[in-house]
Amino acid sequence: MRVVLITGASTGIGLATAKELLKRGDFVILTARKESLNRLAGADFLKKYPRHWIRPLDVREAQERNELLQMVDMEHGRLDVLINNAAVIYRAPIEFAYDFECKEQMNVNFHAPLELIKASLPLMRKSGGGHIINVSSAAGFMAVPTMGLYAASKHALEAASEALFHELAEWNIKISLIEPGFISSDSYLKARLSLALDRGFHPQTRNYSMQSNMITCLIERATRLTNASNEDVANQIAKVLNLKHPPLRSLVTLDAKVFSFLRRFLPGRIYDRLLAVCLRSLRSQVEASLTAPLPGRMDDLRS
Ligand SMILES: NC(=O)c1ccc[n+]([C@@H]2O[C@H](COP(=O)([O-])OP(=O)(O)OC[C@H]3O[C@@H](n4cnc5c(N)ncnc54)[C@H](OP(=O)(O)O)[C@@H]3O)[C@@H](O)[C@H]2O)c1
Repeated sequence: MRVVLITGASTGIGLATAKELLKRGDFVILTARKESLNRLAGADFLKKYPRHWIRPLDVREAQERNELLQMVDMEHGRLDVLINNAAVIYRAPIEFAYDFECKEQMNVNFHAPLELIKASLPLMRKSGGGHIINVSSAAGFMAVPTMGLYAASKHALEAASEALFHELAEWNIKISLIEPGFISSDSYLKARLSLALDRGFHPQTRNYSMQSNMITCLIERATRLTNASNEDVANQIAKVLNLKHPPLRSLVTLDAKVFSFLRRFLPGRIYDRLLAVCLRSLRSQVEASLTAPLPGRMDDLRS
């Protein structure tokens, strides 16, 4: 029975993955921030699978990370799988991204997963190997306006994972990136809108608001049209965990596959032009649909 630790298991892909792995017989340690633990306590599906723990873990907190791993060591003496799933999304034009927004974005999505990996490695070595899953995104290999911070955090996670893929091979510790594109879920609504964009106190923010609006429109459409679900991502994670030689990257949704293909096989100049044309066309549609665009909140612009 594998011992699996999942971050951000209170909702979305993390929760779906926990369910899938419990069904498959793993011992799952579901972790979530203290304030989100109540979503898990008493969850019906957990009653069916007693082989689990629910533990508080804010991935930014070094003490919480270390105490949890010590507890895993004491009680289980092993950790077979670490799934770095927890993440946040900041929506900000780079020009107006505040320092604290950049730091928080990188802290949760890049720094914390790396610290968890570092703290897990001794445990994995002890049991002769392990598997680390880093939940990335199509934003791990491409970027669009107002999503630069999020994309930077996922690009960084991908680069570190690629290095780890080779560094850890000699200890039989595998590392896999899961790259979903658009998922039919409401997680994009939790994106944190940059303060500068939100308040619209600079003349340029009107233009940026339009860009932000255009991306919001794209995300809304795509999440409505896709039939990819959190469960599909969870299935892909479970599948990758069962492979003897898992690939470094696994694309999950059709849009992620298409963009990855274009990115890899089109000459860079053509790819960049193509994306620019698509974004311009989307912007025209959004502008046309707004009779009286207001700077500031995307919600205002959407309604
Ligand atoms: N949904 C998509 O379309 C999509 C597409 C591509 C990639 N992804 C990736 O998939 C993963 C899961 O996303 P999701 O769609 O399931 O999003 P979600 O529903 O927003 O879930 C994110 C999870 O991360 C947790 N989290 C945030 N900050 C944390 C912190 N400091 N410490 C511990 N946990 C924290 C959240 O906990 P709280 O509930 O306590 O905030 C939540 O459980 C992310 O890595 C995301 O980048 C998602």
